[in-house]
Amino acid sequence: MDVQQIAEQVHQKTQVETTVRDVEKVMSGLARTSHFWEIVCASQKPFNVVAEIVEAMRSRGLVNIGEQGDIILTPEGEKFLSDNRIFAKKDYTCPTCEGRGIWREALSELAQKFDEVTVDRPEAILDYDQGYVTTRTVVSRIALIAERGDLEGKKLLVLGDDDLLSIAAGLSGLPEEVVVLEIDDRLVEYINKKARELGLPVKAEKYDFRDKLPEQYVGRFDTFNTDPPETLEALDVCMTRGLTGLRGEGCAGYFGLTRTESSLKKWNLFQQMLVNKFNVAITDIIHEFNHYVNWDYLLGSIRDDYAFVQVKPRLNWYRSSMYRIEVLSGFEKRENKPMPCELYIDEEALIYKPDNK
Ligand SMILES: [Fe+2]
Repeated sequence: MDVQQIAEQVHQKTQVETTVRDVEKVMSGLARTSHFWEIVCASQKPFNVVAEIVEAMRSRGLVNIGEQGDIILTPEGEKFLSDNRIFAKKDYTCPTCEGRGIWREALSELAQKFDEVTVDRPEAILDYDQGYVTTRTVVSRIALIAERGDLEGKKLLVLGDDDLLSIAAGLSGLPEEVVVLEIDDRLVEYINKKARELGLPVKAEKYDFRDKLPEQYVGRFDTFNTDPPETLEALDVCMTRGLTGLRGEGCAGYFGLTRTESSLKKWNLFQQMLVNKFNVAITDIIHEFNHYVNWDYLLGSIRDDYAFVQVKPRLNWYRSSMYRIEVLSGFEKRENKPMPCELYIDEEALIYKPDNK
């Protein structure tokens, strides 16, 4: 039995390319913690890949599953790791900025205000693949966009806003105008109500991004922000809509991309799309910038065949890297037309349930 064998078996089972190093990273996460969601977070591999690697180890007697779903290395497992020179995952993340490289105490005030204002926010629901980021994340995101010169006095387009970034942006007093296009009626209503009450330059409209961008928003904005679903098709549609909303060169787009629902293979295909199809430069990728608050529907929406997966997360494990892209000269507007597509499910999606035969 070797690591290579496990990698091949997992690749076959998940249909997601899985390398020896991938298996090592999951094992390295496991050497650090017995909590499944912490392993997913530490290993930076698609959720189903992590689940199948743990199961492969369980079936080989390398780990036992405790009563609470804890994943515990057996003596054979310990020996296997040491024989293969696999070591516990290190963590040297800066505790002040949580690894984002952005934070000043002065931002605490905005964070506090945001918490007060959004205390009655709508909860995340499965219908639209929702899950919102922590307050610390949303405020850091505002700070990042402002620091890069893409917020103050600028027009911001927010495509999908369960994070309520528009409200944080409005509260910062920096942008000239914020337009939210959002599919969930609850959020459209909520954001408009808050904007009215607080006198923020923010307005929300119902929009399904498979529809073409409303004409009045084509070429209107300096900056867009989105948190796209992560099928390649959805990424394509989201980028098309965001870029169609921008004025032209020097304008920027911000969005998150996970490792949990997107393998590096998908990252590569997507990056090629950004560079070759959309002709933008990728200026920033900030590792684990976005931390998501655990959402209630998680365990009901994912596979239930492995006991160690059906465990309540004890940390904000779902994270994404922050991308910033910038529009170059010679930017050509793409045709603004409807784009039907599969938004949420591919074999790397959290809610994808593999057929275990
Ligand atoms: Fe820091």
